[in-house]
Amino acid sequence: MISQNIQEAFNKQINAELYSSYLYLSMAACFESLNLPGFANWMKVQAREENEHAMKLFEHIVQRGGEVELESIDKPKVKWESAVEAIEDALNHEKKVTGMINDLVDLAAKENDHAAGVLLQWFVSEQVEEEANADDLLQKLKMVGTSGAPLLMLDQQVGKRE
Ligand SMILES: [Fe+2]
Ligand SMILES: [Fe+2]
Repeated sequence: MISQNIQEAFNKQINAELYSSYLYLSMAACFESLNLPGFANWMKVQAREENEHAMKLFEHIVQRGGEVELESIDKPKVKWESAVEAIEDALNHEKKVTGMINDLVDLAAKENDHAAGVLLQWFVSEQVEEEANADDLLQKLKMVGTSGAPLLMLDQQVGKRE
């Protein structure tokens, strides 16, 4: 059985993961309008992953006899002036989520919930990867700048993400 506190915190995190998915989907739409289909693809893959994160928490609550309660998802930002601005936002968002995951780890320890703790360790490692991926993309983008040919080459490269 899952405690009320963990259940509530996990339900909140499901909402945060679904919001992340929504945010990245919004960035994908923005990249489509900026004529950067590769970046749009990168964001669509990212959005799908966030959905999977939400489902990991969903299944954990269900498996332990708890109740999933979905809340409404906030409207994400819709327009970014440049690719750099969007990826900067993505990186900052991931840093914020890392903070949320760390708080959940603290809560699970406080509640002596080892099962939640094990699941959350996966999220801790995942956040290291998420921040690194966004930072890597940001550094590459800053290197190529806004110029035509190099930016199009980078767009082709990130378009290969599956
Ligand atoms: Fe996530
Ligand atoms: Fe993420």
